[in-house]
Amino acid sequence: MQLAERVSRIQPSLTLELSAKASALAKAGHPVINLTVGEPDFPTPRHVRQAAFEAMEKGLTKYTPSAGIVELRTAVANRLNETWGTAYEPRSIVMGSGAKESLANAVLATCQMGDEVLIPAPYWLSYPEMVRLAHATPVFIPTRLRDEFKLSPECLKEHLTPRSRLIIINSPSNPTGVAYDREELDALIPLILEHRLWVISDEIYSRLLYDGRPHFSLAAHPEIRDQLILVDGWSKAYAMTGWRIGFLAAPAQVSSAVIRMQSHTTSHPSSISQWAALAALTGPEDDLHAMVREFERRRDMAYEHLTAIPDLPCRKPEGAFYLFADASGYVGAQWKGKSIDTSLALCEYLLEEQRLAMVPGSVFGAEGFIRLSYAAQYERVAEGIERLASGLAALRR
Ligand SMILES: Cc1ncc(COP(=O)(O)O)c(C=O)c1O
Repeated sequence: MQLAERVSRIQPSLTLELSAKASALAKAGHPVINLTVGEPDFPTPRHVRQAAFEAMEKGLTKYTPSAGIVELRTAVANRLNETWGTAYEPRSIVMGSGAKESLANAVLATCQMGDEVLIPAPYWLSYPEMVRLAHATPVFIPTRLRDEFKLSPECLKEHLTPRSRLIIINSPSNPTGVAYDREELDALIPLILEHRLWVISDEIYSRLLYDGRPHFSLAAHPEIRDQLILVDGWSKAYAMTGWRIGFLAAPAQVSSAVIRMQSHTTSHPSSISQWAALAALTGPEDDLHAMVREFERRRDMAYEHLTAIPDLPCRKPEGAFYLFADASGYVGAQWKGKSIDTSLALCEYLLEEQRLAMVPGSVFGAEGFIRLSYAAQYERVAEGIERLASGLAALRR
């Protein structure tokens, strides 16, 4: 029996393989420290859980419109309009089963075979696979640690061709934690306009910023609103990863196309999650602020300890909950007669020898780097970095 060619384009997730290995070790009784996680280690706020319970009790457990309940779409549109001076209407907003579904639908709605999609690297690992599923071609734009992993107009220009159709910007970024300033986004706009590119702005980490830093959204730039698809969700800000709820805000042309597609695939996210998301968006944010303060405390500690390790350059992240360090100084080291010649091999070594799970940079298009998540208890993050330091010290000998 033959499968569709489409599925052969998609890479299996190496991250999942590594976390599966880490979980198997932990189950077998090994004291593994898992710093691969991409979700807050906090519970969903109580009032949000309560709203879900009430929705169920009221019988709000039936199909909703494909685009989502109007109450939630209105609340999202209002929030965006108040924050960015936009004029989104509820019909511009489409709820998705996580930001991930909204991103995939945005790519499917705008790209097809022959189109090129510009993706600054390091990137979130699902973008290229979404592009390949749409039969389009990912074009990676490398950015460097010494340039703060930021895309400059010069770099963008070098990668533009007549086939360029879409660019995906993710700020704050997974895996680097980098957040763009308004001026840095401004600088990209003339090329986006000139080349009539669609822009997906993945702002899933917009509420997780430190040092009181504000978030800058591409939505604040009126010139490109007709080309902009803004994606955000509840997973990270409200610790709601399992609820599968996100949204896109887009020009009517795109939002109606996505509603059409969605109406024949997933229909809509769970009705209960939508009512819970409404409570999260319109309710108190004390839990969110407390979580951000704790992430900031861990980031400061993790950054201090990590940068004390020799030959492991790392930039202090402004947002999200990851540290992304350049471990290329250790790639090529010898261990038990074997050469550790990739960041994946380095992560396997750390898992085997130190019982520490991290994600290799290769999955984010940045070979030589390693990603550490501080969405784990403060003490475990500290212990993880100690193990990292010992593991790397053993390679230096
Ligand atoms: C950059 C980025 N975008 C989108 C998502 C997807 O989030 P959701 O849980 O809302 O689908 C993630 C999750 O890890 C992410 O890191």
